[in-house]
Amino acid sequence: MRPDDSQPLLHQHGREIQEFGTVRQLPLTLSHDTRMYSAQRLNKILADSQILYSLYKKHHWLMRGPTFYQLHLLLDKHAKEQRELIDAIAERIQTLGGIAVGDPRHVAEITEIPRPPNGAEEVPAMLSRLLEAHEIMLGEAHDAATRTEQQGDHGTNDLLVSQVIRTNELQVWFIAEHLVDTPLVRVEAFAG
Ligand SMILES: [Fe+2]
Repeated sequence: MRPDDSQPLLHQHGREIQEFGTVRQLPLTLSHDTRMYSAQRLNKILADSQILYSLYKKHHWLMRGPTFYQLHLLLDKHAKEQRELIDAIAERIQTLGGIAVGDPRHVAEITEIPRPPNGAEEVPAMLSRLLEAHEIMLGEAHDAATRTEQQGDHGTNDLLVSQVIRTNELQVWFIAEHLVDTPLVRVEAFAG
């Protein structure tokens, strides 16, 4: 046995073997066009989910003020749930024979969620930003759920309805409740 028999073959570079935006043929009883359509819709939602995950981490880190601790923890919980969604969506795209968007620079080209400032905003502005990102995502997800159902892609429809839409809706509720202007200690004086 020669000493270089177990040498790893380093610095290998090759050509792309499947282009982004194409789908391979798999025996799913779903047409090429259906799988192409679903993969494309899912990639947009996947890009938005990856941005939303990053926004949750950013705001988890930058949180401040009297509700720092609960928001710091809540935003991290939501980030973790988004990370699980990201994996489920990406693996659905691969299941359809497609290519899931993965590189953050590619993600940035696809998402329509507005870029936040690099610094910190006031706490209510950071929370509103998260709600607006959810709103964009939910609009996409509802439309994609309807269209994929019409095309008979029940698996994609189920992922969108049972996981993407429900998780995002629940997160909207939890964030929105922090934007209710309710007194912390003293009830408001009333005349009468
Ligand atoms: Fe953390």
